[in-house]
Amino acid sequence: MLTEPSALVVRATLPAVGAAIEDITGLFYEKLFAAHPELLRDLFNRGNQAAGSQRQALAGSIAAFATYLVDHPDERPDAMLRRIAHKHASLGVRAEQYPVVHQHLFAAIAEVLGDAVTPEVAAAWDEVYWLMANALIASEKRLYAEQDVTEGDVWREWEVVDRTEETPEVASFRLRPADGRPAPAFRAGQYVSVQVQLADGARQIRQYSLTGAPDAATRSIAVKRVGDGAATPEGEVSAHLHARVHAGDRLRVSAPYGDLVLDSAEAPLLLASAGIGCTPMLAMLEQLHADGHPGPVTVVHADRSPDTHALHGHHEALTGKLADASAHFWYESDASSETTASGYRTGRVDLKDVPVAAGTRAYLCGPLPFMRAVREQLLGKGVAAADIHYEVFGPDLWLARA
Ligand SMILES: Cc1cc2nc3c(=O)[nH]c(=O)nc-3n(C[C@H](O)[C@H](O)[C@H](O)COP(=O)(O)OP(=O)(O)OC[C@H]3O[C@@H](n4cnc5c(N)ncnc54)[C@H](O)[C@@H]3O)c2cc1C
Ligand code: HEM
Repeated sequence: MLTEPSALVVRATLPAVGAAIEDITGLFYEKLFAAHPELLRDLFNRGNQAAGSQRQALAGSIAAFATYLVDHPDERPDAMLRRIAHKHASLGVRAEQYPVVHQHLFAAIAEVLGDAVTPEVAAAWDEVYWLMANALIASEKRLYAEQDVTEGDVWREWEVVDRTEETPEVASFRLRPADGRPAPAFRAGQYVSVQVQLADGARQIRQYSLTGAPDAATRSIAVKRVGDGAATPEGEVSAHLHARVHAGDRLRVSAPYGDLVLDSAEAPLLLASAGIGCTPMLAMLEQLHADGHPGPVTVVHADRSPDTHALHGHHEALTGKLADASAHFWYESDASSETTASGYRTGRVDLKDVPVAAGTRAYLCGPLPFMRAVREQLLGKGVAAADIHYEVFGPDLWLARA
């Protein structure tokens, strides 16, 4: 809870901080990485830094947190904090790193805003920072304890037991802990971080959703190669995994984390994905089958064509195994010429003719424009906003509005 005097100062300075926050975070990262180059090389996603998207996520979350605190002095934006804490835990972020971020962030604020940062203003924003940091540190501590790891020590070596080319752009990898110890438990919808050493020595980290557990010791992920190397640069980690990682190789993989998980209630469900966003949905379908979920479950997926729809057969077969489930797949190219199966449509997702039961809980994963469109259609069909959950395969630029 923010103290009364700080709340007044934060409210008064929010517009100025909000207007300058992009400059502040830009300078913050410059200072942070100048002092700690190893953080950019081995912890932060340098693709996001180059594209600027991570800067917006951090800026958005601090501004959103401060706004929330002044509007609801006795509450906390739990969904936003949970999402960040899970991401941090999957990266092994430690409490001792928060003062480092604080030092460079506040140096950047002082430099950008100059004389406007009176001692009173600095103290009020300091309070905001530590309220947020301490909430994150506490959640991260809990998340480490849940996985039975010491703080930040989330990494283990896994062996690739096999690799399958699902489509020209997507490869699946089956992984098993290299030390022979049991694979950590996970909840359907969660992801792992994978850290690879690149040609220049950098050890970059990315997240991949678990698509399932073929057996108790094995976990699967499916990786789409991004960027064409011409109009957009090739993605560093996905290109590395595609070009260099095969059966018998080892990967550094984190404990599983992620807050987009099925809860145990037996509500009607709708699982909507687009492109590689199908990965968490596959694990969820596997889980629902294992639990004997009575349904109804509505599966929605959008892709360019059946040929680009990764694990397409698996997606359909898992849906078919449930007691009461239907699949609705939309393809941009003409689906009917390639397959005669029912439930296939051409064009973009349109839920007009798809029955959505009262009380449906929806889980969304795909590009933001897809999720915005589906969310709007679901709200139009009477699904409660609180029952629409989503995962973004990148920095969450929706966080600011969480
Ligand atoms: C929770 C979560 C779950 C995920 N699950 C999956 C999954 O199951 N399967 C999957 O395939 N992916 C998944 N992802 C995405 C994955 O983590 C990576 O983001 C993805 O593999 C791309 O990483 P990369 O290193 O190949 O690309 P990066 O090098 O990170 O590049 C990302 C994008 O930025 C662009 N870019 C890079 N540099 C620049 C530049 N200088 N200027 C402009 N643009 C640039 C690239 O062209 C590319 O399109 C998930 C992400 C999250 C957060
Ligand atoms: C109060 C302080 C902090 C806030 C508000 C914050 C906020 C955020 C947010 C909003 C994201 C994006 C989440 C997503 O949508 O995926 C993120 C990711 C991340 N954070 Fe933090 N963070 C804080 C402290 C730290 C610290 C101390 C570290 C460690 C040095 C850290 C390292 C990272 C990394 C590596 C990522 C992933 C982004 C990437 O790879 O580019 N953060 N953080």
